[in-house]
Amino acid sequence: MKLLAIETSCDETAIAIVEVKKPALNASDIADAGGEGKKPTCAGRAKFKILGNEVSSQIDIHKEYGGVFPALAKREHIKNLPLVLEKVLKQSKLKIEKIDAIAVTTGPGLEPALWTGIVFAKELSQKYKIPVVPVNHMEGHIFSIFPKKGKTFTVENNKELFPMLTLLVSGGHTELVLVKDWMKYKKIGQTRDDAAGEAFDKVARMLSLPYPGGPQISKLASIERDSKREDIALGELASSTERARGIFQQKNIRTSQSNIPSGEIILPRPMIYTKDYDFSFSGLKTAVLYMVRDIGELTDEIKKKIACEFENAVVETLVHKTVKAIKEYKIKTLIVGGGVSANTYLQEQMKAKIKKEKLKAKVHFPSKALTGDNGLMIAIAGYYQYQNKKYTTRLGTIKAKGNLSL
Ligand code: KG4
Ligand code: ZN
Repeated sequence: MKLLAIETSCDETAIAIVEVKKPALNASDIADAGGEGKKPTCAGRAKFKILGNEVSSQIDIHKEYGGVFPALAKREHIKNLPLVLEKVLKQSKLKIEKIDAIAVTTGPGLEPALWTGIVFAKELSQKYKIPVVPVNHMEGHIFSIFPKKGKTFTVENNKELFPMLTLLVSGGHTELVLVKDWMKYKKIGQTRDDAAGEAFDKVARMLSLPYPGGPQISKLASIERDSKREDIALGELASSTERARGIFQQKNIRTSQSNIPSGEIILPRPMIYTKDYDFSFSGLKTAVLYMVRDIGELTDEIKKKIACEFENAVVETLVHKTVKAIKEYKIKTLIVGGGVSANTYLQEQMKAKIKKEKLKAKVHFPSKALTGDNGLMIAIAGYYQYQNKKYTTRLGTIKAKGNLSL
């Protein structure tokens, strides 16, 4: 089947077209069926061919405002959607009449932005008599790890993948979700206040860095970390993460230590020692705010130090809770998705910790181009929703849900 997918939940106008086929049975299908004599299926396995994929980013427009401005996002999506569709159809060398289903993100996200994609999908649906499949944006991020290099990829569904854990970290979400099987989700933890990406963006603004803040903070942090590594190699400094662990042993500590005599910048790791799988980044953000206020003039050197310590604090907290869940739930596969999954320090630390703890979980991050919002991930999730018969031509039932949950 051929599926067109539309994503407009935030500041990217994205459309993809994929062709999906059921692949031939393989050894794991036969094993999953219970061995010889049982009837094997390849129920969840599917082979995807990318026919077209375009993302039109509005970052340059929102940069001026230091964040995404919903009314502006809506205006830009409305302007961009027909142009992006035209490009994608050209890439795919297809006429829209050949499309079997239209997947569209219905939430979570900014409602004015979500509605633009939904209205566009409904118009196409009515005009060309194609059913619409509503898709949860976060489910899309989970599936974003499958496309690698090249135009084809297979989504597997064998038993060795499950139980699976996903850490979803984006501008609006930070959650740990248990996946017992594709489409069977159980949220085991989430942020109680700011999302990790949101904290990156807000701290970047405090340091006068442009939106989106994640890549900016990460760049400064890695320069600082490299210079510290040289110092550590010379035996001069302990890593700030190790020092912070000593200083902030208490739970939920929410103060900064910008005035410690050595001048070293140390931030708390909020909720790292709590028994649950929840996160909190608002206190960490406030700690940076007080620190910046106390310091006064921020030199480039101080900005690098704050960026590095902030990234250490976020990454250490995310890794600690994720690894704890991997152990408790005997996880076989970890998927990290969402904009913050582009963070190279998070990628390094997650893999290193899992290796250090000798855990067997296989870790997957999306390829760089698919860490942010894109239509391809919505196409994959849309295909599985379609398989579950979650498509409709009763268009009145499809609505934007800003707080949609998995
Ligand atoms: O998933 P996404 O593209 O949009 C939402 O659904 O929210 O995530 C955007 C978030 C932004 O907050 C951005 O600062 C963050 O992802 N981000 C990063 C990095 N690249 C993007 N955060 C940390 N490190 C990065 N390298
Ligand atoms: Zn996203």
